[in-house]
Amino acid sequence: MAIDGPAGAGKSSVARGLAARLGFHYLDTGAMYRALTWLALHEGVPLDDGPALEGLARAHPVTFGDAGWVAIAGEDVTTRIREPEIDAAVPVVARHPEVREVMRARQRELGRSGDSVIEGRDIGVVVVPDAEVKVWLVADPAVRARRRHLERDGLGIDELAEELRRRDERDAINTHRAVDAVEVDTTTLSLDEVIDRIAGLVEVAR
Ligand code: DC
Repeated sequence: MAIDGPAGAGKSSVARGLAARLGFHYLDTGAMYRALTWLALHEGVPLDDGPALEGLARAHPVTFGDAGWVAIAGEDVTTRIREPEIDAAVPVVARHPEVREVMRARQRELGRSGDSVIEGRDIGVVVVPDAEVKVWLVADPAVRARRRHLERDGLGIDELAEELRRRDERDAINTHRAVDAVEVDTTTLSLDEVIDRIAGLVEVAR
């Protein structure tokens, strides 16, 4: 099943919790773009060079571990890909069509390993258009900023709200809402309530 939506709507917590509840695999496609961005910065590959980034992505497929780790080129990058430097650079990397082709192929390959919850921006429209259940997750911008604030130290809520607004703008080109996606607004719902609701959709679809 596919969960798409903007940053801070709760995709990762919901997708991870849902996968645990249903016994499905969990695939965080944003982490893949983040890992490639980390590698490009590490190797000094220019972020505006699509073909070079494509080569890097082909040579170094992202791998995931059951315990939630993310690795690329033999390095465990699980925590490093959540740094502000990566937040800022990842939309630039994710914008290259060549990079997206390589990532999408890898995402389909990983998704084929069994029932999966796949979270991202283009999953229901491009990566798995025939997903059994598609969810479009949204939340009020102020709530999204508050959630980010709880997750990350350092920035104030106003700064985070501004950063989220900028990220929405930068990610818009890669973010696609499927016409057959069910919208779930997480603004006033607890994590468990969101998971209950989506687990119900999966049950109905089976
Ligand atoms: O969900 P996230 O913040 O970890 O996503 C990281 C970046 O990757 C963000 O700029 C959006 C982009 N992304 C994308 O373009 N397509 C996806 N399927 C997932 C994420």
